[in-house]
Amino acid sequence: MTKRIFQAIVIITVLGMITPRGYSQEHPASKDSLNRKWWKEAIVYQIYPRSFKDNNGDGIGDLKGIISKLDYIKSLGIDVVWLNPIYSSPNDDNGYDVSDYRNIMKDFGTMDDFDALLKGLHDRGIKLVMDLVVNHSSDEHEWFKQSRSSRTNPYRDYYHWWNAEQGKPPYRYSLFDVNHDAWRYDSLTNAYYLHYFSRKQPDLNWENPKVRTEVFDMMKFWADKGIDGFRLDAFQFAAKDTTFPGFPPGFEKHFSKYYAMQGNLHGYLQEMNKEVLSKYNVMSVAEGAGNTPEDAHNLVDADRHELNMAYAFEGVDIAKRGGYSLLHFKEVFSRWHSTFAEKGWLSIFLANHDQARLVSRFGNDSPQFREASAKMLATFLMTMRGTPYYYNGDELGMTNAGFDKIGDFRDVQTLNEYKHQQSIGADMSKYMHQIAFESRDNARTPFQWDGTANAGFTTGTPWIQVNKNYTSINASAEEKDPNSVLNYFRKIVKFRKDNLVLVYGKYKLLDKDNPDTYSYTRELDGKKLLVMLNFTNKNAATHTGIDMGKTKMLIGNYEHPSDNDTLRAYEAVIFELK
Ligand code: NOJ
Ligand code: CA
Repeated sequence: MTKRIFQAIVIITVLGMITPRGYSQEHPASKDSLNRKWWKEAIVYQIYPRSFKDNNGDGIGDLKGIISKLDYIKSLGIDVVWLNPIYSSPNDDNGYDVSDYRNIMKDFGTMDDFDALLKGLHDRGIKLVMDLVVNHSSDEHEWFKQSRSSRTNPYRDYYHWWNAEQGKPPYRYSLFDVNHDAWRYDSLTNAYYLHYFSRKQPDLNWENPKVRTEVFDMMKFWADKGIDGFRLDAFQFAAKDTTFPGFPPGFEKHFSKYYAMQGNLHGYLQEMNKEVLSKYNVMSVAEGAGNTPEDAHNLVDADRHELNMAYAFEGVDIAKRGGYSLLHFKEVFSRWHSTFAEKGWLSIFLANHDQARLVSRFGNDSPQFREASAKMLATFLMTMRGTPYYYNGDELGMTNAGFDKIGDFRDVQTLNEYKHQQSIGADMSKYMHQIAFESRDNARTPFQWDGTANAGFTTGTPWIQVNKNYTSINASAEEKDPNSVLNYFRKIVKFRKDNLVLVYGKYKLLDKDNPDTYSYTRELDGKKLLVMLNFTNKNAATHTGIDMGKTKMLIGNYEHPSDNDTLRAYEAVIFELK
């Protein structure tokens, strides 16, 4: 090595050492220190494969169906597709019960189809993020079959067992079980196994290093195929105190406090990062992110070398059947933002396959306001700091399913809770009313492609009924209408892509106490945008303190957007400050 090169290396090393770590990694103050990452700048489009497009007429969406719609997906302008689980599964929970992590679910196709899908996305410059479901597996996974076969089987410790001669295990709440009991007795070995979700979703034992190695090897298998990221399903629950202490009576009302972020969770994530994530250019998302913004931050603070971004529920949970308060909404999004303003990264979303439809829940799905409110919500999601996630069908303004008979529902959670309510003699009409608004099936009806039979989703009988409004709400009709929700979605996606300030810029809430409108600025390197959103079905004035004479209107969801501080019903406008 020449002396010059040696000196240069010394200087670079010393400089590297004296740069404060946190600052160099995340501080968003100026462009040079933005620490730009593709996954911060990306817009994620979530595809629920079962309901997206059926290619072979069996009524179930499949990979070939997605492939046939790649040009549509590309036309949205999004950067990343997140696919819900497509691994082999008996489908107790629509793929969230994996029986073979290295194979494709028969209903969905073959590994060749998967390879073709990945290539088709990459050819179009779109990345692919896969669901990683490893808090639990299916009870039909070979590991579990072995595990339950005898107490001395080498796979016994892959799961959590409690031998019955010790008496009944301390109560654990199950989210999906008919009796909400997370311990299931298995007479074969006279023991109980733990399942936080359904009986067919036994929890894996992350304390066992063999389980961790198996999962990391499996992740490498997919990363080596070239996928671009993992969404860690329910991983916040993966670590448990395996002495299973008793919890106080009633703990189930806030079970997440007892289940999330326990034991050595961070240690497992650091190991995952070291063994897998750090070796590939992949993004990683923590679905469920503990109980506080601080918990979430600890999962994604770059200095901790765990995951990239948190997908936290406090925001999406605000909307209830009776509506929600915009003041609460603003408070939650602003508080979460403040914890992540300097370091760490958030996902921004208001809907997914576990929630009712975006426009029915957070907007207004009446014929008069559906389009305006869907566009307003798109404007919100595309202008916040964090990576936006958009759930398939919401770009059309698809609405809740409108099911009123229990026979119409398919979701294990909805159906098991129905049985549970029946068993305790509950008022079932009340329950039906509740699921009409809340059931996850609301978001799982087939994608509405066109006005032909079954919305063009399938030539067969769909696994779940198509929403009756498909003749008026569908992609084909919206393609033709320049003012459709779909075409506005494309516009606002492009607007975000063209304005780096919307990704990294500082967020500031204005007119905080206004119960009708949400206004904020985003600012980066001297560029300042003002976003104003009316969350009501009436005219509403904003009081931002900004001289509107010094602003320029850039984009809005009405054909002729307001150029002042009074917004029409569900109006959204973005201004630039001159
Ligand atoms: C979260 C998933 O999004 C949901 O659909 C699933 O039922 C549970 N985790 C269990 O895997
Ligand atoms: Ca099919």
